[in-house]
Amino acid sequence: MTTTLITNIGSLVTNDPALGEGPLGLVRNAALVLEDEKVSWVGPATAAPAADQAVDAAGRAVIPGFVDSHSHLVFAGDRTAEFNARMSGQPYKAGGIRTTVAATRAASDAELSANVAKYMWEALRQGTTTFETKSGYGLTVEDEARALRIASEHTDEVTYLGAHIVSPDYADDPAAYVKLVTGEMLDACAPYARWVDVFCEKGAFDGDQARAILKAGMAKGLQARVHANQLTYGPGVQLAVELDAASADHCTHLTNADIDALAQGNTVATLLPGAEFSTRAEWPDARRLLDVGVTVALSTDCNPGSSFTSSMPFCIALAVRDMLMTPDEALWSATAGGAAALRRTDVGHLNVGARADLTILDAPSHVHLAYRPGVPMIAEVWRKGVRAV
Ligand code: NIG
Ligand code: FE
Repeated sequence: MTTTLITNIGSLVTNDPALGEGPLGLVRNAALVLEDEKVSWVGPATAAPAADQAVDAAGRAVIPGFVDSHSHLVFAGDRTAEFNARMSGQPYKAGGIRTTVAATRAASDAELSANVAKYMWEALRQGTTTFETKSGYGLTVEDEARALRIASEHTDEVTYLGAHIVSPDYADDPAAYVKLVTGEMLDACAPYARWVDVFCEKGAFDGDQARAILKAGMAKGLQARVHANQLTYGPGVQLAVELDAASADHCTHLTNADIDALAQGNTVATLLPGAEFSTRAEWPDARRLLDVGVTVALSTDCNPGSSFTSSMPFCIALAVRDMLMTPDEALWSATAGGAAALRRTDVGHLNVGARADLTILDAPSHVHLAYRPGVPMIAEVWRKGVRAV
């Protein structure tokens, strides 16, 4: 057993209102003790117990590690030319996914695994300590199963997204592809995954297809999450609530009925501002969701097409500036909100018993994440009680 005291913390975000001010449970002049993989003590620095080793935070802020609940890291190649064309006026189309499917199929296991490791390390350096990632660029039984096997070697939060788009091999027979996704492909993929997801969108899967895909996954023991209402209005959000999905992701185009459904259900709305930024799309209305009490998560959606960023600080800055979230709301959504979107209670907060995942910021307050956008601010990252960065 090793204990570590982190002391002289100028402002500590615990996300436990019982421990400090407001929903962030902010404690000033704080300390915490890590014991093996967990937090064992939180309180004022003046009352901190002794420990095997001590870290002086020198008045800086400490926050829970970010929980990035939505990424697509098992891919090869990049889509620089597509991004360049888009920033020169071309619209974003879901069909760009096919470019990455071709590159991913052609890549070796070692290349794909190295890519996942590279982007997860990039995210960790920016304060992310819990990562979800998906398949969805294989779209054959073998390629989807290998994507999930590789993902599962890097994280426990793995999502089967065989229903990303209809495979180009089934362009003439989408029903046969849905049959494959809900049958043989699901059987091969389920052992490696915790979640099942579907891109419910015009040009991808409609509401009935999405319901069939999610229900088949749930019958195999996977839990649902949905790419919903990204490019257009549609049935995705209400389907997510109907099936008690953990999360409806994107939520860019919402009707009043979609917002009512989210407000009444248990499904988290996961907003992905990197996607709006990188596709020059309109911003989701975070205020409308927050003001009726919907739980909102923030995530990167890191993928080579619509959002090639692994930076949660960047997403926080966008959420504050362009989605009208307060800095406190954005920080909560990037930590506790992400944990809620993954139905996790062990991460996303820093109270006794929580996993010892935290970041020391090179700043006196978490507000600086939005106040000083684009400035490297992650001084140290601790994951499971061990310094990782
Ligand atoms: O979440 N919307 C569907 N999937 C991704 C985009 C994938 C891609 O363009 O490669 C997303 O934005
Ligand atoms: Fe996505």
